[in-house]
Amino acid sequence: MKLAERMQRIGVESAFEVLVRARALEAKGRSVIHLEIGEPDFPTPLHIVEAAKKALDDGWTHYGPTQGFPELREAIAAYISRTRKIRVGPEHVSVVPGGKPIIFFSMLALLEPGDEVIYPNPGFPIYESMIRFAGGKAVPYGLREDQDFDVNVDEVVQKISRHTRLIILNSPHNPTGGVMSRAALARLAAALAEREIFVLSDEIYSRLIYEGEHASLAQFPGMKDWTIILNGFSKTYAMTGWRMGYGVMRADLARQIALLMTNSNSCTASFSQVAGVEALRGPQDAVASMREEFRRRREVIVEGLNRIPGFRCRQPHGAFYAFPNIKQTGKTARELADALLSEAGVACLAGTAFGDWGEGYLRLSFANSVENIQKALERIEGWVKINL
Ligand SMILES: Cc1ncc(COP(=O)(O)O)c(C=O)c1O
Repeated sequence: MKLAERMQRIGVESAFEVLVRARALEAKGRSVIHLEIGEPDFPTPLHIVEAAKKALDDGWTHYGPTQGFPELREAIAAYISRTRKIRVGPEHVSVVPGGKPIIFFSMLALLEPGDEVIYPNPGFPIYESMIRFAGGKAVPYGLREDQDFDVNVDEVVQKISRHTRLIILNSPHNPTGGVMSRAALARLAAALAEREIFVLSDEIYSRLIYEGEHASLAQFPGMKDWTIILNGFSKTYAMTGWRMGYGVMRADLARQIALLMTNSNSCTASFSQVAGVEALRGPQDAVASMREEFRRRREVIVEGLNRIPGFRCRQPHGAFYAFPNIKQTGKTARELADALLSEAGVACLAGTAFGDWGEGYLRLSFANSVENIQKALERIEGWVKINL
């Protein structure tokens, strides 16, 4: 089969591949603990499910406006205005099926062949994949353990050239759990002033912060028109399968994203959008209790990993991933992740699944019960005792 050349440039998301390998082992009767996949293990809060059921009964089963229902866009605009301390309206909001399409559509709308995009490495693998797919040049910046995985603004600024079209930020960060400090955001905003470079600010984990408060680049002087906030319902409300996400951006760009929606999805599922209004306007206690449970698991996994010889793990400040340094084991990240899956029955990801600069690290999702996390830690410890 002859495929278009661009298909050579598209990447993968290893979490889904490791899940398939783990399921194949389970089909053969092996027990596997799943710490590979990045989704809350909680059910979607009941009042949101009820709102969707009612929406189906009420006939919300047809096409809706490509940019999203006005009521949902109003609710999103009010939420973003309140939490980011900026003024945005429904005309700034594009509702799309999940957070991912905002990455895809922003690149398609903005990049000319050869335009440079500065992005985090290690980082969510879809960034690099989509930069390359859209014909851009991927320019990585590092996130370092000795800087608590905060963004080194000097490094980012050094990488700006006259070809830079877009910079990607992700805070809280997948896979390191790093949270970008206010100081770093302020310095970056100052450095970007008047430069007319767009910033894709992936804030999908913004409600999952364990210390301090979330801050967005969009709230710094001069940055609102140049920041595309990516957010969604997947992680905050345990709604990964509902495919509900959105971007908040300048209105002229939002209209272009709507055109891409017209040409791809037509619209986001209507009953999912009705449930989205309930998610944003209804009670938020489920969000708080999920966060507290993640916090408890974070303590267990970080303490447990630091007990294992050859592992060293910082406290992630946000999201639900531990990102231990495993360099002292003498194994590459891939060798260790493969061995832990096939020999210890623990599925996790090599740091290199998030780019070359993830070498020497593993990503373990703590979106699993304390009991399973403890069992996984025992298995890893047992494996290390025998094999290292
Ligand atoms: C950093 C980051 N951005 C975006 C997404 C995509 O979220 P969604 O499932 O809503 O498309 C994820 C999901 O893993 C993520 O980790």
